[in-house]
Amino acid sequence: MQARLLIGIDIGTSGTKTALYDEHGARLAVHTAEYPLYQPQNGWAEQVPEDWWQATLEGIRAVLEASNCNPSHVVGIGLSGQMHGLVMLDENGQVLRRSIIWCDGRTSEECEEITRLVGADRLMAITKSPALTGFTASKILWVRKHEKEIYDKCRHILLPKDYIRYRLTGIFATDASDASGMQLLNIEARDWSDEVLAALDIDRSLLADVYESCEVTGTITPEIAALTGLSTATVVVGGAGDNAAAAVGCGAVRDGYGFTTIGTSGVVFSHCKELRADPDGRIHSFCAAVPGEYHVMGVTLAAGLSLRWFRDQFCAVEQAEAKERNVDVYARMDEIAADIPIGADRLLFLPYLMGERTPHLDPFARGALLGLSASHTRAHCLRAVMEGVIYSLRDCLSLFDAAGVTAPARMMACGGGAVSPLWRQMLSDVLGCTVCTAASNDGGALGAALLAGVGAGVWASVPDACDAVIRVRTEQSPIEQNQADYEPYYQLYHSVYSALRPVCHTLATLKTSYSEDRT
Ligand code: XUL
Repeated sequence: MQARLLIGIDIGTSGTKTALYDEHGARLAVHTAEYPLYQPQNGWAEQVPEDWWQATLEGIRAVLEASNCNPSHVVGIGLSGQMHGLVMLDENGQVLRRSIIWCDGRTSEECEEITRLVGADRLMAITKSPALTGFTASKILWVRKHEKEIYDKCRHILLPKDYIRYRLTGIFATDASDASGMQLLNIEARDWSDEVLAALDIDRSLLADVYESCEVTGTITPEIAALTGLSTATVVVGGAGDNAAAAVGCGAVRDGYGFTTIGTSGVVFSHCKELRADPDGRIHSFCAAVPGEYHVMGVTLAAGLSLRWFRDQFCAVEQAEAKERNVDVYARMDEIAADIPIGADRLLFLPYLMGERTPHLDPFARGALLGLSASHTRAHCLRAVMEGVIYSLRDCLSLFDAAGVTAPARMMACGGGAVSPLWRQMLSDVLGCTVCTAASNDGGALGAALLAGVGAGVWASVPDACDAVIRVRTEQSPIEQNQADYEPYYQLYHSVYSALRPVCHTLATLKTSYSEDRT
């Protein structure tokens, strides 16, 4: 029988990862293409959809070439992507403006408007969340208010990965997990909410059709087949938001199975067979990539982003060294942080560089290094940054209880952060659970490929695909002494933002000569 190959494409914030797998889930080739993040104002975040597309095209070509496979053997493509980003197209399918992405916090006024128009109780009942700046609905209202000429031309509203699907297949479709983050979906019904759409005066025809993650949404167009060598019979399945896809990629697809990821954002996630929600919406309740099932998750906006920020601003020497020796700069940063004891000699970092989602739901939150002394070095600051990110993930986990979800005793770890043994041990110590990694750290890209495999008939179901492919590679357990040492630091971290909140909110009102568009 001819080989059946699968491609998973994860449209991330720092880059797009494309990976090619065989029908046993073994990776044959992988390619990552990076692109910029634009921050035209403090707290704003945008990307260019054409950058995602070029990165995707480059990735598909690169993995096909590197594996030397016959492209017509690729039976399925799965898409995973950063959630919530707003892509607007005109009647000819042309992009109307840069995408306002998940960590953009400009829409607090529009969130108030959404709460007023839909009603706080109805919004919670239907979308399982209060109005959030990160979610897509408020971004749509912002464009309608501030760029009416663009809104008037808009005929299609898509999420990032669904724009890539449109370029690959010509079809407007999304999947229930990603659609959950638009704040327009009735989470329980897994379909757009006519009530919310009517209250916000958003035409349903602007939105894509909603599929389950492993359902086939279309096939490759002849034009893309000619560009890549792929067959026009290759199916593209619904795919999933990056976290739901990463859950598949590390096997968190059964009730109570959890994972945590440190990518640009940081997530603590638990799969739930039934829909469960925090009545205050402090953690998200979304549709899962397993048909008919759900998940809860808490999100730290700047997890890997905090470390990348630290790298870019303060680690020029290590970056130059790493480049010269052709090694990963983060491995060197790990060594530096590992030399500093727990607590970074009484230094706390709040990673709210892009505002914060869980637990504060506050776009005006900002980061802080608390307790700085003249005796502290760059290494102390680095250690504090890494610890602060983990404390923030513990804040996410602490809310699972309110949603009636038991904190998983074992968490898979994925994303760039999971490569660091130091970060994984911190996770285990601070979250108080066993932390494992899978043999593959492809996360979203692997998850998307497995979903494609289910759609193309390689596996019968999403859990079957995970059982066949996912293997545990490392396992770390909490170290009692470390747990005791971290605890008072975490407790202080947990309580400190309530005192800083008024400061952050006042800071947001101060005059800055940077208020003009910077890009
Ligand atoms: C999830 C979220 C982020 C993005 C980017 O709600 O905002 O995790 O999906 O990765």
